[in-house]
Amino acid sequence: MDEWTYDLVEKIKEECSKSRFIHEWPSSCVFLCFYHRRTGVVRVPKLFWTNSLRNEFEYWKNNPDIVEDRLMEHAHAFYGYSIIPSQIESILEIGAGPFTQIQYLITPFRHINSITILEPNAISYMKLNNCKYKGGHLKGHSIEIISDSIESFMEKQRKLSTTNHKLYSIVVAINVVEHVQDAIEYFHAIYNLIEINGLVIFHERWFDHPRDGDCVLEDAERLHPIRITKFVIDIFLNQFETLFINYNKTLRQQKSVCKEQGVYFIGRKTK
Ligand SMILES: C[S@@+](CC[C@H](N)C(=O)[O-])C[C@H]1O[C@@H](n2cnc3c(N)ncnc32)[C@H](O)[C@@H]1O
Repeated sequence: MDEWTYDLVEKIKEECSKSRFIHEWPSSCVFLCFYHRRTGVVRVPKLFWTNSLRNEFEYWKNNPDIVEDRLMEHAHAFYGYSIIPSQIESILEIGAGPFTQIQYLITPFRHINSITILEPNAISYMKLNNCKYKGGHLKGHSIEIISDSIESFMEKQRKLSTTNHKLYSIVVAINVVEHVQDAIEYFHAIYNLIEINGLVIFHERWFDHPRDGDCVLEDAERLHPIRITKFVIDIFLNQFETLFINYNKTLRQQKSVCKEQGVYFIGRKTK
């Protein structure tokens, strides 16, 4: 997967444009190489990931007036996080973006002892004026920042002894899977980073047909190379005791011309 080059991509595109499946994924037929009907695209070569990461950063850099990324939509869909406890020992947000979802969990009525964000673009985001944790503080809380991808972070964790492996009371993972290089590693990481009895706060969308993904997420070569199916999400969620689940379309989704489906989930890790 890491040996893919732009030359190879061009060659494959030439070949796959002759495929009888080309109509399935019109925006970039090269993704047919990574696509499976059951799972969608769960893993892509590194060059697509780095490309997407750079373009995501450029987007926020070139739009300094935007200060949120569907964040209120998520907070509403979780009913304001009312079931989340008022005392939290430690919380980690994976793929926090420049704004974070944790900002909505910080209220005068909730005590959070430690906040960590893991975001591969963190150092670059922190140079932007619209970044919510510029200066290493989020709404007055000092935060730990891990400027790494989840895949590389977990690889480093595996090399540490198990006693050094930090676990969190809550892991927040919202709207990240489309951006990662390896979705299966992302799902394993969420689970493995939560302590027993700890919680996951999770939202992702699924696309059971590649064309639905293209409609919502646009060109997979530029941004969002991963597109998973509901089959993958169900396997992941089944590991948790369900405390909250909401499949209802948000107001924005109801108005969207694209077929967009997702789940808002809070679950407990019991074993
Ligand atoms: C759409 S943003 C979501 C931000 C935030 N969770 C929210 O709800 O606003 C996705 C973020 O995932 C980050 N990301 C991309 N690849 C990642 C990876 N391999 N591991 C962790 N985060 C990643 C991107 O840099 C981007 O900031």
